[in-house]
Amino acid sequence: MLICRSVSEIRAFSRVQKQSRKRVGFVPTMGALHEGHLSLIRQAGALADAVVVSIFVNPTQFGPNEDLSRYPRPFERDRELLEAEGVHALFYPSVEEMYPAGAKTFVNVEELSERLDGGSRPGHFRGVATVVAKLFHAVEPDLAIFGQKDAAQHAVIRRMVRDLDVPVEIRIGEIVREADGLALSSRNAYLDAKQRKQALVLSRALSEVKQLFNTGETEAHALTHAAERVFESEPTAEVDYVAIVDADELTPVHKARSGTLVAVAAWIGTTRLIDNVVL
Ligand code: PAJ
Repeated sequence: MLICRSVSEIRAFSRVQKQSRKRVGFVPTMGALHEGHLSLIRQAGALADAVVVSIFVNPTQFGPNEDLSRYPRPFERDRELLEAEGVHALFYPSVEEMYPAGAKTFVNVEELSERLDGGSRPGHFRGVATVVAKLFHAVEPDLAIFGQKDAAQHAVIRRMVRDLDVPVEIRIGEIVREADGLALSSRNAYLDAKQRKQALVLSRALSEVKQLFNTGETEAHALTHAAERVFESEPTAEVDYVAIVDADELTPVHKARSGTLVAVAAWIGTTRLIDNVVL
């Protein structure tokens, strides 16, 4: 696996692939890789000829009081996992490479960026859209894969790609979960054994909503209440939001239908977790 630390190196790698008519598939990550990331990488391998993964803990998407400094960075382990998956190139830039002194340009997907996680994490999606735009310019992929786990994130990225005519095909990989339902996340590493059990309240709330919808309930307020009742059964979890929204616009709907996004975010101790289900 080629490890590139500069934009020019990874761009040169991609251009060589494309000159030999190979399709480049790209999976952007912040590292601390788990099976969720690996499932996206395998999907990229099935759809493209050359797979590029990036590891970059992007400072512009973290708020001032968030976990940027303690975000896990197990680089050697990540590198081995990527080697074992047969990834062709890893883009692993420094902060200075991605944001040279004096960087003043940001990409903001207006309105969408203020919804769901954007509401509780001001500036978060501006940082995400900016870094993903920069990564796309560096890697010039034919296709890029994002996880359904971050449903608002992929809505923001899909809109950015459309609005800026970025020549990349966006694919979405489904949420990989632990056997008990907990969605895999690099942030699960922050949970102790007790919190790990408490964290199940997110997937339990979503299952409840899905079940209720499947029995014919479509009123968003009834579905929201059902989720809130499940959260009340786990008072140690502090709900950030329960949202029943249009999956593209991220705006609330009154009546849920097939394709409606049910998204939840909650604090378990000092760890903020998100999860969602599409009805
Ligand atoms: P990160 O949290 O490392 O996630 C990288 C990709 O893995 C994202 O597309 C995310 O949705 C996906 N992912 C995370 N958990 C998953 C799971 N349990 N199942 C399936 N896919 C999962 O998301 C980011 O990094 C960053 O915001 C990034 C897009 C790299 C920009 O900095």
